[in-house]
Amino acid sequence: MKTLVVYYTRTGNTKFAAETIAAELEAEIDEVIDLKKRQGRLAYLPAGRDALRGKETEIAQTSRNAIDYDLIIIGQPVWAGSPTPAIRTYVNKNDLSGKKVALFFSDSNLGKAIEKTKALMPNSTFVGELALPAKAFENKEEAKRKIAEWCDILKTV
Ligand SMILES: Cc1cc2nc3c(=O)[nH]c(=O)nc-3n(C[C@H](O)[C@H](O)[C@H](O)COP(=O)(O)O)c2cc1C
Repeated sequence: MKTLVVYYTRTGNTKFAAETIAAELEAEIDEVIDLKKRQGRLAYLPAGRDALRGKETEIAQTSRNAIDYDLIIIGQPVWAGSPTPAIRTYVNKNDLSGKKVALFFSDSNLGKAIEKTKALMPNSTFVGELALPAKAFENKEEAKRKIAEWCDILKTV
């Protein structure tokens, strides 16, 4: 099964998880880059507001084409209980109909992020979801163990 890990990160947690997943599954990996400035204290509130309002954003051209893969694993932080504008934009631009999709999040309070993200891909088959509390990344070995367990399940889908 050809597998692609697609992720957005602002501060690196999701990147760590994405790279661990890609290594476990020998998958290819693609970062979604939000061209809107999201770093710094002043960008925090607009970022949460954009996510909550379901706004899209400008993203950089990604390097892989999701159409070429059987399983797409999508990762992002939770923002205001919602998917990030970058991932919202990515899934709106890339038709994942008929694809197997697994979702992972870094968060401490998921809110409705899973349901809201799934609603963006009504014709995909969801085969897994993983929520990693931001705190989990403080112990990288423990985080890797949890991620590896999840990957073992994904190997069977
Ligand atoms: C704008 C903004 C809104 C956030 N809202 C939530 C939230 O609703 N629930 C939550 O658990 N974490 C929330 N967080 C925290 C991030 O999801 C968490 O720190 C995550 O691990 C960051 O991942 P990253 O390092 O890949 O960017 C928010 C962070 C930002 C920047």
